[in-house]
Amino acid sequence: MPIIAKENQDTKITARWAVNVTDWQPTEEQYTHALNSIQTEERERILRRRLKQDQKLSLSGRLLLRWLFHSVYQVDWEVTRFGRSKNERPILISPEVSKIDFNISHHGDWAVLASIGNFEDRRQNLNVIGVDVMKIETPDEPISQYLRIFREQFSEYEWCTINSPNISEQEKLQRFYRYWCLKESYIKAIGSIKTKTQLYVINEPCPEWKFEESYLDRNHCVAIAYYKNKGDDDANVKHTIVDDLDRTLPFKILDVNHILQYAKEIKG
Ligand SMILES: CC(C)(COP(=O)(O)OP(=O)(O)OC[C@H]1O[C@@H](n2cnc3c(N)ncnc32)[C@H](O)[C@@H]1OP(=O)(O)O)[C@@H](O)C(=O)NCCC(=O)NCCS
Repeated sequence: MPIIAKENQDTKITARWAVNVTDWQPTEEQYTHALNSIQTEERERILRRRLKQDQKLSLSGRLLLRWLFHSVYQVDWEVTRFGRSKNERPILISPEVSKIDFNISHHGDWAVLASIGNFEDRRQNLNVIGVDVMKIETPDEPISQYLRIFREQFSEYEWCTINSPNISEQEKLQRFYRYWCLKESYIKAIGSIKTKTQLYVINEPCPEWKFEESYLDRNHCVAIAYYKNKGDDDANVKHTIVDDLDRTLPFKILDVNHILQYAKEIKG
């Protein structure tokens, strides 16, 4: 995979936020407060998750969403209403704001949010941003055997890059996850899997779409896909330097307990 070390300066991305959900160990009172600070249907959806970690991941995503409108767009916490598209993508119902799009993702230890504002509405109200975070997990079976299961999801070029003869099995796994994460970020931007043509976005870069890729820590890669604004430069995939995690981290790490200080109870 070619590494182009380029910082992203001039985009209209308004937030790249992450919370470490494993580090968030709420008291019972804080947890109840958090659950009461989101809409009822979302609270019920979260409480249907069996594992506490899964509940916390999803809940943190919802809190990030509300925090976005509260802290960046100065909308009162309890005023914002979200719904979901037919593909379950979270969308804003009210207040009415145009040219803002957002997406959340959670996996492993992290919940993340990416949002974009003031984009040129060249896609006529279609979604323009997607984010995906993935924990790089070592499978029980040999890595090459595990990767073969996903062969069909990758183009020839991607497959060769992942299975490069000069790299370790662990590096192959990392490349696999990085590609997967990029693909998922694009799928999440458009809101659904339509056809296999989406895979061409990465293999033969499509000029309208741009990607950012980085690591939150050694085990978690994160990718953002967004529809390109006029004036952005032409690099399609922006990678941060893998060995330089701390200095290049574009995501801002937030603390859920801090967000909760501003959270209000939502009735209904
Ligand atoms: C829609 C899809 C992309 C969501 O993937 P996921 O791994 O569950 O998503 P993440 O963990 O990153 O994020 C979950 C959040 O994404 C958001 N989300 C849900 N559906 C979404 C959609 N259709 N589009 C964008 N965002 C969506 C939600 O906020 C969700 O969190 P919540 O339900 O707890 O509120 C997934 O279900 C899917 O269909 N993936 C395609 C699999 C595949 O073949 N990939 C090929 C890669 S080569």
